[in-house]
Amino acid sequence: MLNYNKTLPDGASGWVVTEERFSNLALAKCEAVMALGNGYMGLRSAAEESYVGEKRNLFVNGTFNRFDELEVSELPNAADVTRMDIRIDGKCFSLDQGEVKAYSRSLNLREAELVRTFIWNSGDGKELEFTFRRFVSLDQLHLIGLKLEVKVLRGPVHLSVASGIDAQVSNSGSQHFHEGEKRIYDKTFLELIQTTTESKVDFVIGASHKLKVDGGTVDLAPAMEIDRRKVAVAYSLNLEEGQTLTLDKVAAVYTSRDKQFAGNYSLPAMRAEVLDVLKTAHESGYETLFSKHAAAWAKVWENYGITIESGNPFDLLGVRFALYHLVAMTPAHDNRMGIGAKGLSGEGYKGHSFWDTEIFILPFYIYSNPQIARSLLEYRYLGLEGARSKAKENGYAGAMYPWEAAWPSDGEVTPVWGAVDIVTGEQTKIWSGFIEQHITSDIAYAVWHYFRATGDVDFMEDYGYEIIFDTAVFWASRLEWNEAQGRYEINEVVGPDEYKEHVDNNAFTNYMAHFNIELAMQYYKELEQNQPELFARYNKLLNLHEAYGIWESKLDLIYLPQPNERLIIPQDDTYLQKEIIDLTPYKDQEKVGSIFNDYNLDQVGNMQISKQADIMMLFFLLENKFSPEVKRANYDYYEEKTLHDSSLSLSTHSILASDFGDKTLAYRLFQRATEIDLGPKVHSSDAGIHAASLGGIWECAVMGFAGVRMLDGQLHLAPKLPEHWDKLAFPLYWQGQRLEISITPQEISICSTAGQPVSLFVHGQLQEVQSTAIFANL
Ligand code: BGC
Repeated sequence: MLNYNKTLPDGASGWVVTEERFSNLALAKCEAVMALGNGYMGLRSAAEESYVGEKRNLFVNGTFNRFDELEVSELPNAADVTRMDIRIDGKCFSLDQGEVKAYSRSLNLREAELVRTFIWNSGDGKELEFTFRRFVSLDQLHLIGLKLEVKVLRGPVHLSVASGIDAQVSNSGSQHFHEGEKRIYDKTFLELIQTTTESKVDFVIGASHKLKVDGGTVDLAPAMEIDRRKVAVAYSLNLEEGQTLTLDKVAAVYTSRDKQFAGNYSLPAMRAEVLDVLKTAHESGYETLFSKHAAAWAKVWENYGITIESGNPFDLLGVRFALYHLVAMTPAHDNRMGIGAKGLSGEGYKGHSFWDTEIFILPFYIYSNPQIARSLLEYRYLGLEGARSKAKENGYAGAMYPWEAAWPSDGEVTPVWGAVDIVTGEQTKIWSGFIEQHITSDIAYAVWHYFRATGDVDFMEDYGYEIIFDTAVFWASRLEWNEAQGRYEINEVVGPDEYKEHVDNNAFTNYMAHFNIELAMQYYKELEQNQPELFARYNKLLNLHEAYGIWESKLDLIYLPQPNERLIIPQDDTYLQKEIIDLTPYKDQEKVGSIFNDYNLDQVGNMQISKQADIMMLFFLLENKFSPEVKRANYDYYEEKTLHDSSLSLSTHSILASDFGDKTLAYRLFQRATEIDLGPKVHSSDAGIHAASLGGIWECAVMGFAGVRMLDGQLHLAPKLPEHWDKLAFPLYWQGQRLEISITPQEISICSTAGQPVSLFVHGQLQEVQSTAIFANL
């Protein structure tokens, strides 16, 4: 239903996602897939005129609020600045009426601009050409620019446009804001204040409009309106045939959560700043603001630019789409914020951060922009506060990270009740917040990955070691002694495969906990020997001497499930004994979770059915602990039983397929991952795009097809390009320096841009690269 073959005005291809026919059915998909954002805020791309079924969302990162005791903290849906009510000769304009020609709604990924254009025939002889443009500035994070252009093709017409700031929105009914003050300055500058009900975050939103006819400013006093949760102006005028009206709108969004106000906040000062910024932006106008925004995006593409020469142009577009959304959703400006599982593109998962960030998205930043990777890990450092309280509340020691995280001090925010249970008719209980515990070692793993790839010692000294030590303290307190077996177990958990709840010894969880404790012991010894002062600091803070004794006594007794005679590692204690059913009817369906039309979660829990990569994830993260034979045997066994009902599944399988050298399978899975948001399934992205999968798409290309890995602190490159790819080139940061990697079926070229020597393994051979080197691709 979306077209990917359109070019930009300068002829560039592979940058445009286009909806070619207006469809009420695809409202939500286009709103999410074409969402705009700059990491500070995210704006869902609902049309200016309103439609039944639309979701108008504006989220500002980090502004979490808890609606009431029965709900968890979520990102509140701030006032809408995009809606415009347009009337032609007194009648409400809508694409549902009249005749629509030459329609297209496009997201230009290169300049991050949404453009909607069409010709509309009113049905009573009037015809108008509309163009709407919109961006969320990457240059000035607080600004949103909008532009409406209407040309009268057959007139005359009387046109009116009402536009303003509309806080009559909610999060699916939960109203997160108190009614606030509203005002219009000089008949031009609109201001609306809203404050969240529980977290008391103030939002000040300003907006202004500039009207022109045929390029000339029109001094037209608007009708002004202030209502409940709303401030607006309406411009009305007559237009002759051939005349063109343009309306530039700019909006400024600030909140008391903004870093600049931390410890130094006053509402009057924030209001003054908004007005000031708004007035300057108003003077500049859409084109000037947009060109600065486009220049900021040009830098993004210069920094992250990836080249793919493929027989299928969609491959490059799919990767660019992923990078576009990663930039739009990542709060690069503020280490107190994480990345939501749907980015900032929808209400899904409430803006909460999961292991999605550390395991699926962080690798992109570690290797493409280590500073941002560090900021994301600092967010987890700040989250130690919530993690420590969660451990305490559950009777454990150390830091037990929340499965879902919001503001760093919030602790666990996973909702308790979910979708309908088709057997009981009640809501299904969500156990993840209680017993999906692998997130704690996933974060420790990410810290280690970041450190080994970047060599950022300062980070470790200030933040990283503390995370690794205190998470290991948690795991040591979490282990359960099984007297009969003479081993430590981790029972009653949910592993990555969320279709198995309350299981004992989920292999992923046990191995990762073991990894976490082993790592803490290694760093303990290194610090004790080499950095006595730092060691003393952490010893005092976390009582490391005692912790080490406990780790040492337990580590080798942790039960790590081993391959059976068929080389299969049991996913948990009972998985392999469960019933096997034919899953064909439930695989790759229009909507994920189709198995729940026939079974409830308890029933699915009693069958060998997996939601997503579980042991496969373990093979990817701790790859040199398992032999290639074991990996392949388990892949074949478990993939058959995996529904890929989580978007986190396909990319991991694709990377493993690349590792096996199965290029066709790896490519097919990569393609399916790119289709999660961009494919024809019309409801796949209603609640927002799939952030982890987007990180996974980059991983498929760089860690899968190019075979980039950090193993034992060494960089490895072992490319296996898909058959129809002639080239894959990308930047890669390693130990603080930027490398440019370019791969063809014949050659691998590596260039260290600062001219510093680098050593790495290319197809398993240790190589020294002085500044540029070319190796044969095997
Ligand atoms: C997956 C989790 C994931 C979460 C957020 C769930 O459906 O099973 O692994 O963390 O979605 O993306």
